[in-house]
Amino acid sequence: MKMVSPALQLSIEDCRFLSERAFAVAGVKIDPCKSDFFQLRISRRLRALGVDRFEDYIGLLKSDDSGIESRCLVEALTTHTTSFFRECHQYDWLKNEGLNRLGASGAGFDRPLSVWSAACSTGAELWSAAMILEDATREPGGLRKYQLLGTDISRPVLKKAKGATYTETEVEGVGAALRGRYLMRSTTATDLEKRPYYRIVPELRQRAVFECANLSNLSGFRDCAADIVFLRNVLIYFSEEVQERALKGVIDRMRRGGILMTGHAEVVSPRASLRMIGPSIYEKV
Ligand SMILES: C[S@@+](CC[C@H](N)C(=O)[O-])C[C@H]1O[C@@H](n2cnc3c(N)ncnc32)[C@H](O)[C@@H]1O
Repeated sequence: MKMVSPALQLSIEDCRFLSERAFAVAGVKIDPCKSDFFQLRISRRLRALGVDRFEDYIGLLKSDDSGIESRCLVEALTTHTTSFFRECHQYDWLKNEGLNRLGASGAGFDRPLSVWSAACSTGAELWSAAMILEDATREPGGLRKYQLLGTDISRPVLKKAKGATYTETEVEGVGAALRGRYLMRSTTATDLEKRPYYRIVPELRQRAVFECANLSNLSGFRDCAADIVFLRNVLIYFSEEVQERALKGVIDRMRRGGILMTGHAEVVSPRASLRMIGPSIYEKV
């Protein structure tokens, strides 16, 4: 049997330390007993840094006064999975009912309708909404103005969201008609399989702002009054206390009558400020 040197294995104390650091920085709760998970994710980070031993990496984190490596740790431990038109029923609802409902209060007509993707990852969620809104502006008497905000704790994903360039696989969820209207096909750049990259058209890109903000302590958030908020597939990673803080911070930044969309696996406990109006769809009251 092959022996693994202790320096190449994370101890339970190491896992506990990593778990506590991730929680302190991002509110993300990871069971310290998941040593295989930590081992796998941290090994990648060690390779990227050229560090050989876990104990050296732990030492690096302990002396990380700038917080930079702690953010990289969170990056290594969190997932950024996303896709265009994920939980498609919410976009259908927006198109068929939500926009009319919000329009009745002047959103998109007297003032810009504002959409916020509060854990936007690489942007697919926000760009999907943008396609629905832009379509609505092209209808007679349709939406007149809208603005888009994407926030996330991870700087690398925000960079990609802003660049708005995706592989063929990543844009799989975008139907042919929307592709034709809102995706530009690169004529030169290709992926490893020689398939072209796609970029969101400038009309949508110019409406969007992406910013770094942390849902667990509400740092980096601007004051806003959003009409539509996507807060999907991020609450599940938080402790109950952090979920509550994040939810309150988001609801406080929504307009009354605004719509909150959560992930289908996320349970929002009943509260006076929200009324459920569809599956994973809430209205601020
Ligand atoms: C699984 S992705 C979900 C992306 C998108 N909302 C969706 O449903 O397709 C989770 C995202 O939450 C972000 N995240 C994790 N902790 C966060 C925090 N404390 N504040 C803001 N974003 C956070 C991650 O960086 C990641 O991009």
